[in-house]
Amino acid sequence: MPVDEGLALYSAAEEAAALGLPLLEVGTYCGRSTILLAAAAREAGTVAVTVDHHRGSEEQQPGWEYHDASLVDGAVGRMDTLPTFRRTLHAAGLEDHVIAVVGRSPRVAAVWGKPLGLVFVDGGHTDEHAAADYEGWAPHLAPGGLLVIHDVFPDPADGGQAPYRMYRTALASGVFTERSVTRSLRVLQRAA
Ligand SMILES: C[S@@+](CC[C@H](N)C(=O)[O-])C[C@H]1O[C@@H](n2cnc3c(N)ncnc32)[C@H](O)[C@@H]1O
Repeated sequence: MPVDEGLALYSAAEEAAALGLPLLEVGTYCGRSTILLAAAAREAGTVAVTVDHHRGSEEQQPGWEYHDASLVDGAVGRMDTLPTFRRTLHAAGLEDHVIAVVGRSPRVAAVWGKPLGLVFVDGGHTDEHAAADYEGWAPHLAPGGLLVIHDVFPDPADGGQAPYRMYRTALASGVFTERSVTRSLRVLQRAA
């Protein structure tokens, strides 16, 4: 995530944290965006919740563009980003402001029961995953809450289309209005 997108995410998190509700992220990976949400949550006295199965997305698997072999757990032969994520949080001094949930996003969403101030979607980038993330988490957003979507590329030449289709679905629902655009990061707001 480039710096300007990170600053836009932090700014949205700051605003949403003022609602006094948890901020939720789908797609922890090694914690880069989590620490932005956690820093905003700390300032407002709320918490950041981050959800990931920690086995990596499609493009992070061996042989794919974003694979990092150092993140493979040799004992089981699969990606495991949880240890690196925990080191990131520890180094940032933000462990007390984050709840890390290890699991598949739709399964966590199905048992979630509390209104959220912000949902940041940066998980799986297939249509199946993006649609499930939107359907699972958007209903948990409080009125006035912010839906932040990463990797929104209107032009297919710039990247995959699933987050863009999620973004279009959210706008077409009539429930969300657009608040800001920073490269591929879109901030939408749920109607009050
Ligand atoms: C692009 S990375 C997230 C990057 C992170 N937000 C950052 O800015 O550093 C996507 C992450 O989503 C996770 N993921 C993909 N599909 C998922 C799903 N259905 N449930 C939970 N996590 C998922 C992957 O394991 C991966 O760590």
